[in-house]
Amino acid sequence: MPTLVRPAMSHMASFVGAMLEGYSRDTLRPETPEGIDQIAKNPEWFLRQLNDPPTTIVLPDGTLGPRVAETRLWYVEGDLFIGDIAVRHSLSPMLEQWGGHIGYAVRPSGWGQGHATVMLAGMLDHVRKNLPLERVTLTANVKNAASIRVIEKNGGILEGEIPHPWVEGDFGYRYWIEL
Ligand SMILES: CC(C)(COP(=O)(O)OP(=O)(O)OC[C@H]1O[C@@H](n2cnc3c(N)ncnc32)[C@H](O)[C@@H]1OP(=O)(O)O)[C@@H](O)C(=O)NCCC(=O)NCCS
Repeated sequence: MPTLVRPAMSHMASFVGAMLEGYSRDTLRPETPEGIDQIAKNPEWFLRQLNDPPTTIVLPDGTLGPRVAETRLWYVEGDLFIGDIAVRHSLSPMLEQWGGHIGYAVRPSGWGQGHATVMLAGMLDHVRKNLPLERVTLTANVKNAASIRVIEKNGGILEGEIPHPWVEGDFGYRYWIEL
């Protein structure tokens, strides 16, 4: 049975395979062949910055801002990488607008098998046990029917529709899940 674990070297070959089949770390942008190649050649470096990320982040407007603390887990079965889910411990002004506390993605070959639903349920349990949050917010693009279902199946209550801050003409739904 798949489980949520800290990303480890044993999953790296499968993670690279996931990117080659179309998994992307960014919902707005596909991975590039150069980016995949860099990770494939430097898996230790990649894992280090994944598990111990820098304290700053490049914001969508190109400026540097503080990065909020996060816990990132991978959904794996043995060495097989299935998906990624991260919870931010607090919200920056940017995450308040879009993104919220929790973000996730499943590799394309794993879609439609209930993985994201179970991953989010597992992460909510993790948050209940480990973080002082009473509720979490999540956003999903209005066109992302699968993600909307995943959130609603995990008790997401719709707050309303919000404009995408960086993609003109795009809209999302903001949800809250009580913990
Ligand atoms: C969104 C995503 C995480 C869903 O992962 P998944 O493992 O396929 O999701 P699940 O199998 O748990 O499916 C959840 C629900 O969505 C439904 N669903 C799946 N694909 C769908 C689609 N294209 N249209 C409508 N519903 C869909 C499923 O039927 C299921 O509902 P059900 O249980 O009522 O049948 C996955 O598509 C993905 O990684 N996409 C790219 C990254 C992304 O969009 N992340 C979310 C950002 S908010």
